[in-house]
Amino acid sequence: MGDFVFNLKHVLVVSLAMNMCLIWKISYDEETVANKWSSWEQKLGLCFNGEKHKDHDTILATTSSAAAAPFVRENTAVINLDHGDPTMYENFWKQKGKETTVVTSSWQHISYFSDIKNICWFLERGLMSAITRLHKVVGNAVTEGRHIVVGTGSSQLYQAALYALSPHNASEPINVVSAAPFYSSYPLMTDYLKSGLHKWAGDAKEFNKQEPYIELVTSPNNPDGSTRQDVVKRDKGILIHDLAYYWPQYTPILSPADYDIMLFTVSKSTGHAGSRIGWALVKDREIARKMTTFIEINTIGVSKDSQIRAAKILEAISDSCDHANEKDAETFFDYSYKLMAERWKEIREAVSKTELFSLPDFQQETCSFSGRTFGQLPAFAWLKCEGDVDDCEGFLRKHKILTRGGKHFGASMKYVRVSMLSREKEFKLLTQRLPAIVS
Ligand SMILES: Cc1ncc(COP(=O)(O)O)c(C=O)c1O
Repeated sequence: MGDFVFNLKHVLVVSLAMNMCLIWKISYDEETVANKWSSWEQKLGLCFNGEKHKDHDTILATTSSAAAAPFVRENTAVINLDHGDPTMYENFWKQKGKETTVVTSSWQHISYFSDIKNICWFLERGLMSAITRLHKVVGNAVTEGRHIVVGTGSSQLYQAALYALSPHNASEPINVVSAAPFYSSYPLMTDYLKSGLHKWAGDAKEFNKQEPYIELVTSPNNPDGSTRQDVVKRDKGILIHDLAYYWPQYTPILSPADYDIMLFTVSKSTGHAGSRIGWALVKDREIARKMTTFIEINTIGVSKDSQIRAAKILEAISDSCDHANEKDAETFFDYSYKLMAERWKEIREAVSKTELFSLPDFQQETCSFSGRTFGQLPAFAWLKCEGDVDDCEGFLRKHKILTRGGKHFGASMKYVRVSMLSREKEFKLLTQRLPAIVS
């Protein structure tokens, strides 16, 4: 009897697990972008554990390495291109070895403080000079007369900038806008603490209130790669320029950006998203001080280990650019430009073989950094489903391609954002699978 109850329990547990898998498949539509990533991982663990893995569909581009690849059946693998995880840069940095390796002893970096004379007192001097040098080498931003504020990714700096720019004594939170399609994290980051200081007010092109506002100008833009300027253009407006992609592998550099608040990040410039280092170039001392205060209250500074690692990487890039003609070794921006150009050629070829999809076109311009003439090579493909397909994200999901649908960017569901920054394996699968889709 006891054994029977025990076995029955087992049957119930197995049945429950199977039903969970089923429920998950049905309820996928309900998920938010923010929890998709972890829920995919959990679901993998629940439904496709261990050896069973081999007999089921497999998700590529999920966690730490390409080691899972041998288990993959290529025609049934789920390709996850929802996130802009910059793993395509891994191979370049693997070759660098000692040149970009940082060794730290346990006694180093103990203090909270880096440079108490600086407004941003937790900014490492080495990182400050590496940032300034790289902008000079590339010619993509003015650093003279700017304060540098370091953040745990540019995401933290975005929030610090909102805190610094929002009036603290106003009766209403200030409106925050950006022209659609806008980066999907802006509405989430603006409103997730339900701050009394600022509130997300949507598409800048539709903003018609006679009220103060902060406008996010992302150029090149995430998700569609377009070059942008502010659109509201009214007296009471304050601008934040998010220049995460203003680097020569994504866009021709035309002149040094010269705005009041400019945000940059290693996540997209060098591909070191996991180091979580971003920086703001800020003209106004008081704004820089308030941003620093936000980070002080939020995380009491920014990891020194990460700053030192980022400084080493930025310096290595500047060194290689300075000696580009003397050494045979390819510079980081040469490597990343060629890879992006190749990927865009391949995805355009794949899309041209079918009537079902289209991609935006870009004007060619000459890059002042490389001297090359080219059109934008965005980190994301803003793919449109042509014809009757109204939910492009759902349509591609049926073909096991995970992307982020237009609604997350304040745009039509006929569009999806597809990461171009994945490892080679996932990208190749994408370009094989897209032209093979018939319905
Ligand atoms: C436009 C834009 N800004 C900011 C970020 C966030 O960068 P970080 O990883 O430095 O927080 C991203 C990341 O995808 C982005 O696309």
